[in-house]
Amino acid sequence: MRRPTSRPSPTSASPETARRPSSPNRPHPNDRRRRLMTDVAVLGLGNMGAALARAFLAKGHATAVWNRTPAKAQALAELGARVSPDAASAIRVAPISLVCVERYDQVRALLEEADAAGALAGSAIVNVTWGSPEEARDMETWVADRGAQYLDSDIYDYPDAIGNDIPVVPYAGGRAVYDRFADLLSALGPAHYHGPDPAVPNILGSAVAAYHHVAAAAFFEAAAYADGYGVSPREFLEFNALVGQPLTERAVRRGVAEIEDGDFRAGQASLHAHYDAAIVNRDDRRRIGQPAPMLAAFCDLVEPLLANQGDLELAAIFQPLRAER
Ligand SMILES: NC(=O)c1ccc[n+]([C@@H]2O[C@H](COP(=O)([O-])OP(=O)(O)OC[C@H]3O[C@@H](n4cnc5c(N)ncnc54)[C@H](OP(=O)(O)O)[C@@H]3O)[C@@H](O)[C@H]2O)c1
Repeated sequence: MRRPTSRPSPTSASPETARRPSSPNRPHPNDRRRRLMTDVAVLGLGNMGAALARAFLAKGHATAVWNRTPAKAQALAELGARVSPDAASAIRVAPISLVCVERYDQVRALLEEADAAGALAGSAIVNVTWGSPEEARDMETWVADRGAQYLDSDIYDYPDAIGNDIPVVPYAGGRAVYDRFADLLSALGPAHYHGPDPAVPNILGSAVAAYHHVAAAAFFEAAAYADGYGVSPREFLEFNALVGQPLTERAVRRGVAEIEDGDFRAGQASLHAHYDAAIVNRDDRRRIGQPAPMLAAFCDLVEPLLANQGDLELAAIFQPLRAER
């Protein structure tokens, strides 16, 4: 990958020197720039950032790396990464830079440094750091105001999935910059473009994380219940994979169609029916002295809706859960 020709670079030859014929003994100034160029830079080499850099290197991409604590770059240097002394240098030697630190305020601070050093304008920044929807929108505006292109991203898996079996990596922001770098970014995992609003990856990420936490907690609560009666967590796991997961998948797909249609009268199972089953379940756990906070939360959620919406399907809980904007 080559840096856009419009991008100013301290290593660029002046028009005068660019016209000077190169000699076999003296490297042409542009040769130096080519030697310095990498395909991609990764800034922030914690668990996730290091995994991103390893995935690029494994796919044969020349990769510049930078980390606040330089020692973390050593293992990547041994894999062939080019270690940059500061964030600005890393951004300068690559046409696209991925930033993966803990928070957006840290991203902003290191991009401010790069901007002060003249490295930001003309570059493309992909912010893989997790944050809020508002932070992503603010960051895009701030980066664009400094003449750089911006994509936001978020990763919904562990570092060992990067470049291996990660399902998808979402990107949102400028379509042109996504199209230009989509092949390179696919080194991390299948790349999906989610439109111009840079907030979308963080919104999807927060939604997936919340679903993951609650669903996993509900699984372990149910496994503890089964275990209390002598059915092992393993037996529950295998049975749930055959029965509970497909049941839930069908129910949420049907529920989303109901949300889209605005009609929750499908006649499959009413909120009353779900609530009655959940109460029996909850009370059985209380009788054997087992805490069941997930189930109790479900009962607390549904109970106030029974009076007016008790005959509707489960997806009718969606509307009262929405924040009014
Ligand atoms: N790990 C995961 O499973 C996972 C999964 C999905 C998403 N993510 C996201 O990926 C991002 C990074 O997570 P991680 O797991 O790689 O975290 P981590 O292992 O704790 O690494 C944090 C990184 O941020 C850098 N950093 C912290 N403060 C900084 C500052 N003020 N200036 C410059 N750099 C700073 C650290 O540099 P030093 O080495 O100098 O401390 C380090 O490179 C987070 O937004 C996280 O939510 C992580």
